[in-house]
Amino acid sequence: MEFENTLDFARKMDREDNLKQFREEFLFPTFAGKNPVYLTGNSLGLQPKRTREYILEELDEWHKYGVEGHFDAKRPWYSYHELLTEKTAKIVGALPEEVVVTHSLTTNLHLLMVSFYRPEGKRTKILCEGKAFPSDQYALESQVKFHKLDVKENLIEIFPREGEHLIRESDILDKIAELGETLALVMIGGVNYYTGQLFDMKTITEAGHKVGAIVGFDLAHAAGNINLKLHDWQVDFAAWCGYKYLNSSPGGVSGIFVHEKHAYSTDLPRFAGWWGYNKEKRFKMEPGFDPMRGAEGWQLSNAPVLGMAAHLASLEIFEQAGMDKIGAKRDKLTAFLEFVIRNVSDKNRERCSFEIITPADISKRGAQLSILVHGQGKELFNKLSQKGVIADWREPNVIRIAPAPLYNSFEDCYRFGESLEDSI
Ligand SMILES: Cc1ncc(COP(=O)(O)O)c(C=O)c1O
Repeated sequence: MEFENTLDFARKMDREDNLKQFREEFLFPTFAGKNPVYLTGNSLGLQPKRTREYILEELDEWHKYGVEGHFDAKRPWYSYHELLTEKTAKIVGALPEEVVVTHSLTTNLHLLMVSFYRPEGKRTKILCEGKAFPSDQYALESQVKFHKLDVKENLIEIFPREGEHLIRESDILDKIAELGETLALVMIGGVNYYTGQLFDMKTITEAGHKVGAIVGFDLAHAAGNINLKLHDWQVDFAAWCGYKYLNSSPGGVSGIFVHEKHAYSTDLPRFAGWWGYNKEKRFKMEPGFDPMRGAEGWQLSNAPVLGMAAHLASLEIFEQAGMDKIGAKRDKLTAFLEFVIRNVSDKNRERCSFEIITPADISKRGAQLSILVHGQGKELFNKLSQKGVIADWREPNVIRIAPAPLYNSFEDCYRFGESLEDSI
């Protein structure tokens, strides 16, 4: 598609956008002026207008029923999480029984690794991406230590080659083959948080399985962003947070996926809690853990209803819009933003340049673009902020931006370019 870096062109694209009405569903921050350009949905998604109503409803139910709200509330709290299951399954390409919304992301990664990282004999190693999000690094390290194994020897990180920004997928596949029967687990971020690189989860899963390893993904930057097919790809397990592309409130609830081939197993080791216990018998309060079948069996605690209410409000919007349309707009919007940045960079070559390190191939990225700023640093970012652009700065010189298809417009992308040029 031919783009033009003009306001008229951006507005024309907005008029033709079949998701444009969803922008009205969201509240935009007010601290940065009247009409901010919010491009940080990859960090914290915006608040849907209906979230307040959904939370207030639960506060009213709590007022009205007290403890009886567990069963008598309009949406009974006892089974509140079940309201989220089908909507979540559609977003990540799973069967409903393969997903559950519960806890927070790092907690879920640990709970899943307790079940799926089971080093035995020679098969002890974990393969992950180099410079994974720190919480993942700590989680992986501590899992290795938990099994009294040496971290250096057993946590294998795969980095971009010298002078490159992205990890070559062929290097991941070669490493999996090389590690062979010593590989217990592949655990990678489906979309890298720093570069926005999207990994081919299907191929990585196949390669891991070929050598007998388990394959799991952290989908913090993929859920609600990428068109996922976790079930068909045969991914063993995954977890994600609700507060980025899924707009489900700061620190909001997380989701987990356990493939049906494992979800019904009662033999897998797991850290148990009463909410993962056989629903029919839960209130008999009997000793001896009998796990619920499906991903629900990994729940520990009863649902934090206020966080779940926020999640429900957002998931309804996703259901109305549909991931296919969201994905189609994501690619157009991101490509337009990329065009605008390159155009600004070309026009200002003498003073500075912007290098987009995110893959140019749209099948290898989602909504995020990570821009290396050559020649100017944090000062440029600060100027951008003063102009009402809400973006994300990562040391030493990377600006991360992500147009979220549900609420960002082509005009936002144009205005980002305008502010970028003014800030040089
Ligand atoms: C890739 C990735 N993993 C893990 C986390 C940690 O999430 P939480 O604090 O919800 O456990 C984040 C948070 O931004 C993340 O981006």
